[in-house]
Amino acid sequence: MSHESPGDVVFSAEQISRRVAELAAAIRRDAADGPLTILAVLHGSAVFLAELLKRLGTTVDVEFVEASSYRDGTTSNGQVALGRCGRLDLAGRDVLIVDDIVDTGHTLAAVRRAVEATGPRSVRTCVLLDKPSRRQVDVALDYCGFVVNNVFVVGYGLDYAGRYRGLPHIARLEG
Ligand code: XMP
Repeated sequence: MSHESPGDVVFSAEQISRRVAELAAAIRRDAADGPLTILAVLHGSAVFLAELLKRLGTTVDVEFVEASSYRDGTTSNGQVALGRCGRLDLAGRDVLIVDDIVDTGHTLAAVRRAVEATGPRSVRTCVLLDKPSRRQVDVALDYCGFVVNNVFVVGYGLDYAGRYRGLPHIARLEG
C-alpha cells in the first residue's frame, strides 16, 4: 500500500504562470524569423504545453511524441522507449522540444536524437523544470522554467503512478 501524496508547494500556480509567460516571450523573440514546430513529450508536458501555447499565439504548429523512461516508482533505468503520436517528420523545420522535467537527461537526449534523424533546420529545447543534480547525460536546455533540488515533484502535469497531474501547482511528493 502506497502512502505517497503531495506535500509542500515548491512552485505556486502564480509563480508558474508568470514564468511560463517569460519563457513564451523569449521563445517568440527568438522565433521571429519563421514558424515554429513544437514537439511535446507526452504525457508530462501536457499542462505546460497548454499554457505555453496560449502565450505563444497562432504561429506554432504542434506534434507529439510519447516517451517513457520511468519503469518503477521514481527511479529511471536509463532506457527510453519512444512511441509516435502521428508522424515524426520534421525535415526542414525549426523544432522546439517541450518537456516537463529533465532529470537524468536520457529522455530529452533520446527525443533529440530522434528529431535530428529527420533532418530539421534547427532544434531547441524547452523544459519547465531542471533537476541538474541527477544528470547522467549532457543535454542543452535553451529555455528552462525553474531549477529543482533532488526531490520528486508532482502536479502541473507531473504524476506519481498516474496521479496528481491535475494539481495547479508543483508540490513535493511526500510519504
Ligand atoms: P530523465 O531521467 O530521462 O527523466 O531525464 C525525464 C522524465 O522523468 C520523469 N520525472 C519526473 N516525474 N516528478 C515527476 O512526476 C519528478 O520529480 C520527475 N523527475 C523525472 C518525467 O516524466 C520526465 O519527463
